[in-house]
Amino acid sequence: MENKWDAILAQYIGHVVSPDGRDTFESTPKLIDELVQAAEIARNSLVLDLGCGWGNVTRACAAKTSRTVFGIDPNFQNLQEAKRRSRGENIQYLQGSFENPVFAQKADLIISSLAFHQVNQDYKSHALKNIRDRLSASGKFILCDVMLFFNAQQDAVKFNRVYRYILQKTTPKDVYTNCIAPYLDETQIYTWADMKAYTPKDFWLYSLDDMNHWLRENDLAITKRQTFCPFFGILTIEPVSKK
Ligand SMILES: C[S@@+](CC[C@H](N)C(=O)[O-])C[C@H]1O[C@@H](n2cnc3c(N)ncnc32)[C@H](O)[C@@H]1O
Repeated sequence: MENKWDAILAQYIGHVVSPDGRDTFESTPKLIDELVQAAEIARNSLVLDLGCGWGNVTRACAAKTSRTVFGIDPNFQNLQEAKRRSRGENIQYLQGSFENPVFAQKADLIISSLAFHQVNQDYKSHALKNIRDRLSASGKFILCDVMLFFNAQQDAVKFNRVYRYILQKTTPKDVYTNCIAPYLDETQIYTWADMKAYTPKDFWLYSLDDMNHWLRENDLAITKRQTFCPFFGILTIEPVSKK
């Protein structure tokens, strides 16, 4: 199973080392194609890319609309690299975040890839309120992220495998090898409740149930779902009331 997940994820997520030496991830061209297809960008769409990183998704959006695309990220170095890669394109990069989007207009499309899990758990609902406030009545939010698409509380065996897998894939290698692997008991089934009891809150995974709860709080709903594996996929999210 884990080998199958490796093969699937390799198509969509690139593992890269950023200019300041950090391990990070970026959307591959195949994932960007999937995102752009899901987004159905019109020539006059106003688009915002949240957690834009080096601007890979931003540039693909800018090729579809004639308007300025806004790429927003909290990391100054990532924005510098995004600007370096985007010279001459209809893009403006801004330093901001899901929590503070520094964007006052209503967008036709807000897109985000591989970033939402980085919002602190207690701010996820607030981050979605920021999305709702910045979407036009007919606007869409296209979200690609790591999220548990199965019932993590009921399916403990699957959760155990997925959690261990994600932990190994996303933790820097030296930290995983020295600080985590020696303490993992292979005979134990690590449950959703264990994660909540023993892992700092901001490192919790989130589930589709969590997402639906935060969306309901903010007048948003999932209208389409594309899953690549049990913990990775793309959601199309739209306002419920078309105010
Ligand atoms: C894995 S990179 C993905 C970059 C790009 N979206 C892509 O798919 O190639 C995640 C990005 O999310 C940004 N990020 C971290 N916390 C964030 C937050 N609270 N709000 C918005 N972006 C955030 C990081 O700085 C980083 O550039």
